[in-house]
Amino acid sequence: MTDLSHPASLPAAEQFIELCQRVEAEFQSRCGYVPSVVAAAPGRVNLIGEHVDYNHGFVLPMAIERYVIIAAAPSSNPSQEHATFYSSDMQESIDVPISASSGPTCSGWGRYFEGVIAGFVSGGCNVPPFDAVIGSSVPRGGGLSSSAALEVATATMLEGITGQQLEPLEKAMLCQRAEHKFAGMPCGIMDQFSSVFGMPNELMLLDCISQEIQAVPFRDENVSVLITNSNVKHELAGGAYAERRRQCESALAELGLLSWRDVTLADLDSARSRLTNDELACGRHVVTEIGRTLDAAKAFANGQWALVGELMYSSHESLQKDFRVSCAELDTLVRIAREIGSEDGVYGSRMTGGGFGGCSVTLVRSGLAKAVRERILMQYENETGVQGSSFTSRPAIGAHLVKRNAHDN
Ligand code: GLA
Repeated sequence: MTDLSHPASLPAAEQFIELCQRVEAEFQSRCGYVPSVVAAAPGRVNLIGEHVDYNHGFVLPMAIERYVIIAAAPSSNPSQEHATFYSSDMQESIDVPISASSGPTCSGWGRYFEGVIAGFVSGGCNVPPFDAVIGSSVPRGGGLSSSAALEVATATMLEGITGQQLEPLEKAMLCQRAEHKFAGMPCGIMDQFSSVFGMPNELMLLDCISQEIQAVPFRDENVSVLITNSNVKHELAGGAYAERRRQCESALAELGLLSWRDVTLADLDSARSRLTNDELACGRHVVTEIGRTLDAAKAFANGQWALVGELMYSSHESLQKDFRVSCAELDTLVRIAREIGSEDGVYGSRMTGGGFGGCSVTLVRSGLAKAVRERILMQYENETGVQGSSFTSRPAIGAHLVKRNAHDN
């Protein structure tokens, strides 16, 4: 799939409008009538709090100005019984059954749609056969939650088509279930929550036990979030995620506790002989990362950028050495950023998302962001032979309907 990266020079709002118009026009030319709904859902970048959403922790993501857009309308063909999705990026279409099935019958990207549709149908919603066209500016496989954006955009589109409005929390959970049951990925709640609840000018401190979000203001125009895609994705990702999750669960069971939030480093130390080395290392990451995330949220709110930066570097080191989900390319990106240093505009940097490739997130002084970006990309390519790509983003608004016609087709 081509990454529909928009020219970096286009401001975010224009990129968004242009993408919506392109998807809408594509729908019209394929189906011969105008879509009755256009839905948007963003990807996310996590500033800190990695691999702790499924470990009773706190995470600190923001939605990004990159979106999945879906234009759709009930089908005009009376004999059609399924939903047809056309991806303008892959130039491929797929028919998806409308049923309450509890597992996938589709393969590949169809599973995400099937899972979300099944969530609506099993919740008693009457979903009509429909046609949909999708376009995306969220890089795929970059650790920026392109799949959660796809699920949440599908759910938002279905809300528009059926008139069945879900509570935002219910919508995020329905999409997480689709990811678990249909895509087979035992993810936490961070990605779907970020895509649903994203707010401009705010990071979200998400308490993964209570599922409450505390807004952390992030308005300082002098500080920017630079997202750099290593443009590598190591195959290990899916299996290793589930394996880390299991190791965390077995370590917690061995500690005899129900929540990682109650675990201290001293607890881990006294259980040392009963834990495998991997369990111990995973536990160390989880305990320290939960603490770092709370500290970082405070530092963000107080504009203590140097402190945020230090916490980001420690988070990366913990993910690299203890949780072991980084990779050479991500380590290179973070090291280059660190070498540039605060004098030349870098406060901090770390890998973001599930790991084994994907993106790094770097906090930079806005006035120097362009220079930092160029230096990182040039040195990264020199050292690895891989061409990276990058963009900055302000915290973006979460999923919403861009358009809903009064008269459905
Ligand atoms: C993936 C998952 C999230 C989270 C991150 C790691 O993105 O979908 O739930 O666990 O990895 O923080």
